Formats: sequence, structure tokens, C-alpha cells
Amino acid sequence: MKICKSSLLRIYNYCYPFIFNGRKIFAFIACLVLVACLPALAQTATTGKESVSRQCISINDNWRFYKYDSTAKPDDLIYDVRPEVNGQTDGELADAKPTEAVIIKATQAVLKPWILPTGNDFIKDPAKRYIRPEGNPGSNFSFLQNDFHDSSWEKVNLPHDWAIKGPFMKGDEAEVGGGMGRLPSPGVAWYRKKLDIPASDTGKSIFLDVDGAMSYAMVWLNGKLVGGWPYGYSSWRVELTPFVKPGGENQLAIRLDNPPNSMRWYPGGGIYRNVWLTKTHPVHVSHWGTFITTHDVSHTSATINMEVTIDNNSKDDTPIKVVTQIFALNANGNKSGDAVATIEPLKTSIAAGKKTKVEGSVALQNPKLWGPPPTQVPNRYIAVTTLLQNNQPIDQYETRFGIRSLRFDPDSGVYVNGELIKIKGVCQHHDLGALGAAFNTRAAERQLEILKEMGCNAIRMSHNPPAPELLELTDRMGFLVMDEAFDMWVLKKNPLDFHLVFPDWHEQDLRAMVRRDRNSPSVFLWSIGNEVGEQYTGNNGAAIAKRLIDIVKEEDPHRFTTSAMNWAKPDMSLPAVLDVIGVNYQGEGIRQFPEFEGTNRIRTAPQYDAFHAKFPHKVILGAETASALSSRGIYLFPVSNEMSIPAKDGRGLDSKNRQVSSYELYSVDFGSSADKVFGSLDRHPFVAGEFVWNGWDYLGEPTPYYESRSSYTGIIDLAGFKKDRFYLYQSHWRPDLPMAHILPHWNWPDRIGEITPVHVFTSGDEAELFLNGKSLGRKKMIQYEYRLRWDDVKYEPGELKVEAYRNGKKWAEDVVKTTGEPARLEAKSNRNEILSDGKDLAFITVRVTDKNGLTVPRANNRIKFDVDGPGEIAATDNGDPTNLMPFPSYEREAFNGLALIIIRSKTGNSGLITVTAKSPGLKGTQVALKNKF
Ligand code: GAL
Repeated sequence: MKICKSSLLRIYNYCYPFIFNGRKIFAFIACLVLVACLPALAQTATTGKESVSRQCISINDNWRFYKYDSTAKPDDLIYDVRPEVNGQTDGELADAKPTEAVIIKATQAVLKPWILPTGNDFIKDPAKRYIRPEGNPGSNFSFLQNDFHDSSWEKVNLPHDWAIKGPFMKGDEAEVGGGMGRLPSPGVAWYRKKLDIPASDTGKSIFLDVDGAMSYAMVWLNGKLVGGWPYGYSSWRVELTPFVKPGGENQLAIRLDNPPNSMRWYPGGGIYRNVWLTKTHPVHVSHWGTFITTHDVSHTSATINMEVTIDNNSKDDTPIKVVTQIFALNANGNKSGDAVATIEPLKTSIAAGKKTKVEGSVALQNPKLWGPPPTQVPNRYIAVTTLLQNNQPIDQYETRFGIRSLRFDPDSGVYVNGELIKIKGVCQHHDLGALGAAFNTRAAERQLEILKEMGCNAIRMSHNPPAPELLELTDRMGFLVMDEAFDMWVLKKNPLDFHLVFPDWHEQDLRAMVRRDRNSPSVFLWSIGNEVGEQYTGNNGAAIAKRLIDIVKEEDPHRFTTSAMNWAKPDMSLPAVLDVIGVNYQGEGIRQFPEFEGTNRIRTAPQYDAFHAKFPHKVILGAETASALSSRGIYLFPVSNEMSIPAKDGRGLDSKNRQVSSYELYSVDFGSSADKVFGSLDRHPFVAGEFVWNGWDYLGEPTPYYESRSSYTGIIDLAGFKKDRFYLYQSHWRPDLPMAHILPHWNWPDRIGEITPVHVFTSGDEAELFLNGKSLGRKKMIQYEYRLRWDDVKYEPGELKVEAYRNGKKWAEDVVKTTGEPARLEAKSNRNEILSDGKDLAFITVRVTDKNGLTVPRANNRIKFDVDGPGEIAATDNGDPTNLMPFPSYEREAFNGLALIIIRSKTGNSGLITVTAKSPGLKGTQVALKNKF
């Protein structure tokens, strides 16, 4: 028998608690027992997230996929009937008032009664749990049969977004309009995969764990309906055990059904997150069955409390011992060193078919605390919990967590480990730009890296639970997270949105989110909803909110809960039931400009003071701010003299080309510029901070241009290129970083002699601007202003230079030069090496430059890309919201000088990946990166 190092380590780990207890003889016997059962331990696979007797196996690869054509009638295996959709509402302004649900009656057989029992573990009241009806819907349907030939179906690997390759749908009458991103996300589709279940799995509990499938998922195994989950953003599990045939191939079939008119943004379509096959002993730690909290936290000690819920799916009552060891995680998230603490063995006895909870705690000396950079370090730990039956380990479960204290102060905000951390946050949707909704860790990490460079320290998961790996990233990188469940409750924003399932599923979805994410140190606040229609329904709405808050508190009594309100005022019912007052746009005031007087749009005076006066004991947070608009590299004249103004034609908008000026002064009707929000927060220091709408541009909701494909509100464009606003936030959020940034670019051959305002964002307090060496004056930053403006500059080609000062000393500078004509392409990859795992990515920026290497700011040359070696072009983009070229295209125009190529590694082959970019009349370029094992 080969005993590997990790097995020896496991023996040591098992023995350690007993030795630790001083019971040496017992420890010796325990060791012997463990050595005796080593062969069993050694043979278990370690392909997934966990090990020992529990296996968590990635089953992302080699699926077969079929989607009905949008004109074909799909099968009738429907979850439920839906109301008819009359009229197009896809382009409604975000603050339109949600409306009553339409009552529907099922007129045909539906599968809902078989699906509802999947959520039973997340329904508290046993009387409300569902009983599976007799029968097996779909039993005769061909796609479910083991012998169905699916070889003509498309071969796909997960995570998979069926809609992202396009094509984009154009025009006003398009089947999918701008609101949902003009991509073919609606429709019914099937995924099939054969699972090889060995005979040795007989007697195990076997589960399918789906991190996210968009949407109305229903699962069959070997032709038998197993269960499913409607909400596309929830993670969920179905138990396969009763349907599995160990000792051969088992046929899995999953049906998804994405309704049209179901979202205010691009949902994507398909099994767009990771999928796992989990095999355990019948007695095992329940799904998300651990809950760790930390108390009395200081740098010298902390108490770690842990609850472990255990399922006994066997036919016998059993005594169980639960041992948990705690290890430090290193910066990469790997377990490092010996156990730093052990929770005393907990003993319990579990009746057959029941679950039970045990609780223990341990004190840790000199803990390394988790906290947001730059002032703190996101240190983490991992708790390794082992279940022992008759002293034999039967299950092992890992829980990552951080040790930190949170305190909410109504007069200043959120304290992490005693330090006031003002929330410098952004709202983020789930898509990854040109890669769509299909989750990719590297793409998400890149989003966070660029946000971090800006000084962002918090993410609002708007408006739905994220991929679990995204929280792993925020934990590792030290972002605070507002984890949000819903965008609507009973009232609807779109005819076929989540309101249809809210009455049946809100408890299961909400508990699933909290139970899954409550060990994540990032999560500092739960949100039960965004701008829900129930804000308008007085006590009835507040009663729903109260029910949701109670659910959250049952799952996590320690954290606070909020809801993001764009309408409810201090004297209304909803805010009174919240722990934290989440204010959307109302802090700065909504549509206060005279032009909105007499219109039927929402108008609201600034509300921070009123909320603070009414709720002096509650923290107030700018849960959503700004909704400022801009297209990267577009500057329109004349420039408004205001510091913030809603955009309209001739005032920040170019409706002919569907672009918005990047002077960063313009916003949606109900929004404000970044500067105005900074001023409002600085004037109200009791506000905990803000979540800007929004960090990265996203697919769908292309306000103000419905014909476009993606938003204009991002600080960073869809391709990941920084808009000017990035530097405005950086100047304010990273005051200690010496920086200065000039706008606009300086290529205006048609503006010679015309007024062309120059604005500067800097972390300095003063700056001097020079045009071709001549000073245009030195200006000082004024209180409640966040940029320096030279609004009367007359354009002449040449060089603009700014020298910024702080406390009278030179602090930073920036230079912008008039460039020559486009002459060549230059390409730079954000990484020189990627892993050959078929998932890792490199992001290559291609610039159109003049002969001196300066980016030509208005260049829109058409570029052709190619790749050679063990990599492929996953997608290309340029960040232009109007660009309807499909993302997989190998050809694309530069948008204001820039284009992006996303390279994905190919599995198994190491070697050089060479990427070329060519454009007629320009010198081409090539960039090489390594694909490594
Ligand atoms: C907000 C809404 C966001 C987004 C934004 C666009 O009111 O909460 O989801 O729609 O408007 O400006």
C-alpha cells in the first residue's frame, strides 16, 4: 500500500485533537484505527473542493446542449404557466414604479409540484414543506432517455452562456431589446451528460450541486424527475441518491427555460456557473452546514464559534463525534502550517433520517485578523471538520472564514476591527462583458483588480447572489460585500420577472443565499431587495420586508440587513423595519432641476438629514449613487458649467451616434455626477459611504440609448478600459496616491481657436496647467469641489501639461499631446503566462498609435486578430456600447484608439501562444505568451 504524504498528514490531523486533550492512550488507539482505514481514505479522489470520504467532483466538461429555435414550439415540460405579455416594457426607466402581478391560472399540466420539494431544507416550518406527488412527468420524453442519441447536439463545457455569441438583435422591434442586451438569452434548452457512477458508490449519498443555472432548472436522472430550482441566481442542490444506478452510466438531463421580458439587464442563459457531483457517507455535514462566527475579537485573542449541522441519511440512529481543526490560509488561499486551534470533540447522536446541530468554540491567541486593505490585511483561516463514527472518519468538510469584528455607528459608519472604513463601493452586475454570464474566475479577478487600483473597497452584488467563487475572490482580496437577494418581490418590474416565483420561493432563495455566504468575511451587510415596488405599499410592503429580515436573522443573527430604497422616505413604513437605511439616489436628491417641475417623474429633495433625524440610531448608507453616464474617449461641446446635470441632447448627449460625453458631468435623470455625490457625502459625514452605480459597464440596460447593447453608467467600460471617471474616483478614494489626470484628449483639428475646456482630476490640492509651455494659471481645489477646471482654454495643437501640488510641494503631473495620424498597432498582454487549464485568460489591449507610439484618441481602424499555438480567442471587444459586432469575432474596429482581445488557454498543451493584430495601412503587431502546465 502506498501511503502518500497527505495521508500521513491526515493521520496526524486526526490524532492531533486527541493528543491535544492529553488522552494519549486513546490517541494511540485512534491512530491505529485510522491506519487500518487508510486504504479507504487513500483511494478517494481529490479532484474537487474537498477530500477524504467526501468527494466533490467538477463535472463541468463534456456536456451536450440543445436549444429550441426561437420560432419553434418547445416541449411542454413547463414549470408553470405564465401570464401573456402585452406590449414592450424592456426599456422602462429604472425608477419607474413597479406594478401589480397578473393572476394566472394553470390551464395545462405543470411540473412545479415536483420541483418545489427541492427547496424543503430551506423552509423552516415543517408544515409548509412540500410532498413530492406520485408520478414521473416527462417519462416518455425522448431527451430524458438513456438511449437518446444526442451526438448531433452541440458539445459544450460549463460554465456556459448560450446567448453570448450572439448575434445581437437590432432595431426597435427586435425579439430581445436593449434592456436585456439584444442577445438571444430567452428560450428553452437542454443539457445532457453521462455520469459514470462506480459500483463502489453503492450506499453513498450523491448530490448534484449547481452554483447557478439561468433559469427554471429541472433535473432528470435516468429518466426520473429529480427536482429543480427556478431562480437563476441561486446556488442549489438536488439529491440524486434514490435515482442513481451505481456500476455504470447514468444519464443526467437538465431543462432550462429563460423567459423573455424577465430582467432589466442581460441575464445570460444556460448553466453559467460551476456544477459539482458531491458524494458523501450517508451521515455527513449538511449542505452549507457550518456556520462560524467570531467574538471578542482583538489582535491578542478571539473566540471562534462554530455550528455544524449533520444529516443522517442512513437507516440507523448513530452516535457521531465532530472534531474541527483550524489552520491558517496563505495569501493564495491555501492551507498553511499546522493547526492553530482545535474545537474540542463534540458528541451527538442522530436519529435515522434526521439532522442535528452541534456547537462548539475555541479561543485563539494572537489571531491574524481579516480586514480591507490598504490599512488592513485580509487574513483567513480554514476550519476542517471531521465526523467520526465509532472513531472512524466518515466525512470531512472545509469552511473558509476570517476573524474580524464589525461595528455600525449611526454617526460615522462601519468599523472593521475598530477602524472606521468608509464604504468606497461600486455596484456590479454578474456579467463579464464579452464573456457574458459564464463565470470565469480570472475575468472576475481582473474586474476586482482594476477596481482596487481605483481605491474601491466594497462591492454591492446588484441585485442578486453572486457566483461563490466571486466571494472567494472578495474574501481573498479584502473587499467588503453587500450581498443582495432580489430586484423585486411580489410587484413586478417586468412581466415575466422573478415576481412570478417570489411567493413560492422567497424563503428558500433567501435562506440559500445567507446559508451559503454567511462564513464569508467579506459580507458585511445583507440586502433583501433593490428598489422594490413594495416601497409604495405602506405597511403591507413593510410586512413583507419584516418577514424577509426575520428569515435572514434566523440564518445569521449577527449581521445587519438593509434594502435599497429609491422611493421610501423617512416617514414611510419600509425604512422603519430595516437595520441599515439603504438610500438610492435620494441622498443627493432626485430630479431637483426646474426642467422636471410639473412632469410626472419622481422628484425628491435631498434626504440624508431627514433619514438621520428620523433614525438617529441607524446607520445610513448610499446603497446606490450617481448613475453618471459617459462613453470612453468621447467629448462633446459645449461643456456644461454645472458640476452635475442630467444629460440631454446638446448637453452631454450625441443621439446621432448614441454616445455620451466623458467630461463626467452628466447623469441619468434621477442621478448625479461623481463630484456631486462626493460633496453630498462630505457634507453628511454620518453616512457610511456609497455604492456607485456602477463599477464596470454591463450588458443590457443601455440608458439613454435603447438601441445599444450595454450600459453607459460604468466607471470602467465593458472591455475593461478606464473612462476618465476612473481617475476622478481614484483621486478621491486614494488620497495618498500622487496622481493627476487631464481630460479631454488633445486632437481637435476642427476646433482650432475654439473654447475647449480642460479638466484635471488630482489627489493634489492645487495644480498649474500649461499649453505648449505657457501657463494657463494655477488653481486651488475648493471645498466640496473635486476637480480643477480651466473652462476657457482655446484649442491649439501641441502639448497640455498639468503640474499638481500638495501642501505647496510638487505632487504629480500628467501630459496629453496632439498625436499624428494612425501608423501602427501596439499590443500588450496583462499577463505573460497563463495556465493550460482551458479556463485561464489573458487580456490583450491593442492600441492604434501614431509613429511615435502615442495612442490616437479618435482612431477607429478595423483590426483583424489571429492566434497561433495552444490558445484561442475567447472574445474581442472595444468598449463601445453601440457596437453590435458579435463578441467571438476575430475582427473589430478600435473604439477611440483601443480594442481588446481575450485569449483563453487550451487544455493540456504547453508552449507559446502568438497573437497577431493587423489593420490595412498600419504596421501590424504580435504578442506572445506562455501556456504552462
Ligand atoms: C437604479 C437601479 C439599477 C439601475 C440603475 C440605472 O435605479 O437600481 O439597477 O437600473 O438605476 O441607472
